[in-house]
Amino acid sequence: MADARPAHTAPPPIVRREDYQPPEWRVPQISLELDLDGARTVVRSTLEIEREGRHRLPLRLDAKNLVVRRVAVDGQAVNYRFENDVLRIPIEGDRATVETEVEIAPRANTQLMGLYESGGMLCTQCEAEGFRRITPFPDRPDVLSRYRVRMVADRGAYPVLLANGDPVAQGELDGGRHWAEWHDPFPKPCYLFALVAGSLVANRDSFVTRSGKTVQLAIWVREGDLPKTEHAMTSLKAAMKWDEEVFGREYDLEMFNIVAVADFNFGAMENKGLNIFNSRYILADPDTATDADYDAIAGVVAHEYFHNWSGNRVTCRDWFQLSLKEGFTVFRDQQFSADMGSPAVKRIEDVRMLRAAQFPEDGGPLAHPVRPDSYIEISNFYTATVYNKGAELIRMIRTILGPEKFRAGCDLYFDRHDGQAVTCEDFVRAMEDASGADLSRFRLWYSQAGTPRVRASLVRGPGSPRLLLEQEVPPTPGQPAKQPMPIPLRIALLDEATGVAADERLVLLDEAKAEVVLERAPERPVLSINRDFSAPIIVETDRTAADLAFLSAHDDDPFARYEAMQQLMLDTLIRSVSGGAADHHAVVEAVRHALADRALDPAFVAETVLLPSETFIGDRMDTVDPDAIHRSREALRAELGRELEALWRQAYSTHAANRYEYSSSAKGARRLRSVALGYIMAAGAADAPVLAQAQFDGADNMTDRQGALVVLANGDSAERQAALSAFYDRYRDNALVLDKWFSVQALSTRADTPAQVEALARHPDFTLSNPNRLRSLVGAFAANQRAFHDVSGRGYRFLADMILAEDKLNPQTAARLVPPLGRWRRFDEQRAALMRAELERIVATAGLSKDVFEQASKSLG
Ligand code: TRP
Ligand code: ZN
Repeated sequence: MADARPAHTAPPPIVRREDYQPPEWRVPQISLELDLDGARTVVRSTLEIEREGRHRLPLRLDAKNLVVRRVAVDGQAVNYRFENDVLRIPIEGDRATVETEVEIAPRANTQLMGLYESGGMLCTQCEAEGFRRITPFPDRPDVLSRYRVRMVADRGAYPVLLANGDPVAQGELDGGRHWAEWHDPFPKPCYLFALVAGSLVANRDSFVTRSGKTVQLAIWVREGDLPKTEHAMTSLKAAMKWDEEVFGREYDLEMFNIVAVADFNFGAMENKGLNIFNSRYILADPDTATDADYDAIAGVVAHEYFHNWSGNRVTCRDWFQLSLKEGFTVFRDQQFSADMGSPAVKRIEDVRMLRAAQFPEDGGPLAHPVRPDSYIEISNFYTATVYNKGAELIRMIRTILGPEKFRAGCDLYFDRHDGQAVTCEDFVRAMEDASGADLSRFRLWYSQAGTPRVRASLVRGPGSPRLLLEQEVPPTPGQPAKQPMPIPLRIALLDEATGVAADERLVLLDEAKAEVVLERAPERPVLSINRDFSAPIIVETDRTAADLAFLSAHDDDPFARYEAMQQLMLDTLIRSVSGGAADHHAVVEAVRHALADRALDPAFVAETVLLPSETFIGDRMDTVDPDAIHRSREALRAELGRELEALWRQAYSTHAANRYEYSSSAKGARRLRSVALGYIMAAGAADAPVLAQAQFDGADNMTDRQGALVVLANGDSAERQAALSAFYDRYRDNALVLDKWFSVQALSTRADTPAQVEALARHPDFTLSNPNRLRSLVGAFAANQRAFHDVSGRGYRFLADMILAEDKLNPQTAARLVPPLGRWRRFDEQRAALMRAELERIVATAGLSKDVFEQASKSLG
């Protein structure tokens, strides 16, 4: 509880973007010596410092939870002040050598920030502000230093010693101890510092860069996990090659290391030359990882690798610029994954993710711009807005400039700012300078929060049809009035008679209203708009069910085709939730058409025949009615199951288990098969549980096994409990698979899920100390709309209890569980009051962290 705020104190300070000041002191060089031990580690640091500009201010070093044993300037002990986590050291001249010696306790570190212990190994996490928990330092991304790191440790407990850069020397010491020294020649901010010490084994490989340099690659894991590193290694080499080919970016050190750790707050971390990963984004084999896991591993390995340029060589001036590296790098990993598999399916997945995570954030009390203006705790701003909406901004710039000018802009950006700490503004300016385009209005995308809504209607002849467009950017906290944004809309008109699309065009809607005359239009045009999801907006059109059905069968843009089907489903569901007659005919026929279309990729079919999630349906309603949404959606699912049962069975057997293979076509077949099984189950077919059980028992891979388990876990057949028990028994020693066992139950559509989840929180394998396990149960449950919003309020109480318990151990991870409670405005009065009461209980708790305080108090709005 070291970080807890004392009860009844003033709220924690707000950090503002407009208050940015450049650093008072530079630190061109740092040498660290760490005497590593889980119980107690001693850290000695030597800083070469230089005064920046003309001032008489002392050196300010951030220091958190450190026991300071010595401070010296140019070899002399000095009088320093240490209060409020800042060490102030008086310095006479413009340059000095500052030495500090501190003590830390890695084993007692449950926050997983700074130096901590995980499964007996020692590792670090410094982004955003963890380095100050290791040694006193100006912990801000615009102070760049060259690092020399010497580690000393017991050889038996810590045989492998890794740090950033390249290894330069190592040796033995008395008493079974050894040491290793690493140098990183590239100046870097301290958030990219890392070290790892432990008993690890490596999957080693190498990569020859396009200029002929051989880079040694190693993925370090615990002994038994070595066979599960092959896919990560393949992905890493593919990412290295792709970044050379598509962005012209080459790797710059002799060595690239990756380490997998079991206890990790996030997905992974791009520390220079030493990426540290949550083991779920490294370890995979067909028996334990699903196709989605394999895809996520490839994406995250690529993401962290790509940061070597977008984040490390060019870094952020301050944390308000976080999207500079994260939005850009997410865009880069999305393009990589698209190129490695199906671009259409990847785009659908990315948009689904944006709508599931970012749209709700943008429409709620925690809404913030891609470049935020203020924060209390920066960890709370590693959000879907900064990451995923940020990636959409980069994509829009590319759409507006075209791929060649975009690439020229990227080249200029990297070239101009290599070795610097810069801003989102610098990125946009490089894009403008390289292309000649004027992006002045586009900058609004960085500063204005909220998801724009665009109303589009097509006015047909006489003469050329006209497209009427109108945009509205909703108010968000602190931003009551908005300016119209420049919105790039890819549009086309399809000929209703022939199904052929007339030429696609890019319309830039940059005013509140616009009218576009569409020449060369077909006789009977149907509007296809926001093709490939060219802008991260909500589009409302006056298209009829017949128009949407037509587009879902004929649109030549795969995303638009998927989108038409989703819109058709959504319109149908919203009508029935709002008490209208449930006319399912158009949806049934459109799904029938998709299933019968032999030209379509099975992976695409699987995406397109899935109904919008309950949460997504709720997002489009004025007041979310979780029970009505669940009933309506289940009714439509059942009808689709029954009406098309023969087609589902056909799809199921066509894509029946063949021997496991990781390829796009095999993945698509598995996906469609599990979707078909779900519909056969929804139809109420008597043999459905038996089919699922057979798939479960006979599966030679986790995708099929988990797919069957999900279907069984949602029902109440006799096979359900047997499958859950068998799964548990088989995988009880594999933490990552056990996470799936918790998640499947937390996401169940059964009515008793809230009670089941409460019981699972008392299961001996549940723990608050591992973020993956916590999220697998509690995070998954909070995403299960109907279960979490049980009208009794027990779901809210459960979540608040978990947040408060976790906050004592790991505030960062606790705070990430708060947003579901913040959606209270979207619900009926009874639920809203219950949710608010839990938020109020959280905020009133003595000793709350500033992480949870910020999220909960803002959520009360
Ligand atoms: N920069 C990491 C990424 O690639 C994010 C990250 C890793 C992180 N660990 C963290 C952010 C801990 C906050 C706290 O996306
Ligand atoms: Zn990142």
